[in-house]
Amino acid sequence: MPDIAIFASGNGSNAQRIIEYFSGHPAIRVSLVLCNKPDAYVLTRAEKLSVPTRIFNRKSFYETSEIPEFLKANHIDYIVLAGFLWLIPQSLLNAYPGRIINIHPALLPAYGGKGMYGSKVHEAVIASGDTESGITIHFVDENYDEGRIIFQAKCKIDAGETAETLAEKVHALEYRYFAEVIERVVL
Ligand code: GAR
Repeated sequence: MPDIAIFASGNGSNAQRIIEYFSGHPAIRVSLVLCNKPDAYVLTRAEKLSVPTRIFNRKSFYETSEIPEFLKANHIDYIVLAGFLWLIPQSLLNAYPGRIINIHPALLPAYGGKGMYGSKVHEAVIASGDTESGITIHFVDENYDEGRIIFQAKCKIDAGETAETLAEKVHALEYRYFAEVIERVVL
């Protein structure tokens, strides 16, 4: 059975949605949640759903092979980034070629890159005057938000839209599609 590890840095609402979607799934299992922030709410969510967690720091992530070794020891087949904000090091890319999937809260290639995450993305989209935004699910490579696009979905930006209201629309798209797209890639 393919095993997925989710990496997340914060709230973890997408991580929760993905764990719930695959709970009881006949062919795919979410078996780990990894996090770089000891106080991130995603850890509470994972514990409530009985998914084991591991916290790591910058040094172990970028200067050792602890994380790829840990993932291999746990028979992880795919990595899903669900609100994970650090660049993936080459050692992890080499360990999981074409098997790391990210979600970005805008229509890449626009509004991606270092520092573009969460509400910063929505603020930039609204400031630009664009009439639509959306989500991008893509494979991860050595640059922020540049790997091959797997799936996109759009939403309209209405008059008076704020970063908060746009975030709600984008989250709704994420919850609707992310787990299904992961399922399609993995199966
Ligand atoms: C999601 O909207 C995700 O697209 C975004 O962070 C949010 C995490 O929310 N990711 C990025 O901005 C990556 N550049 P969540 O923790 O509630 O799932």
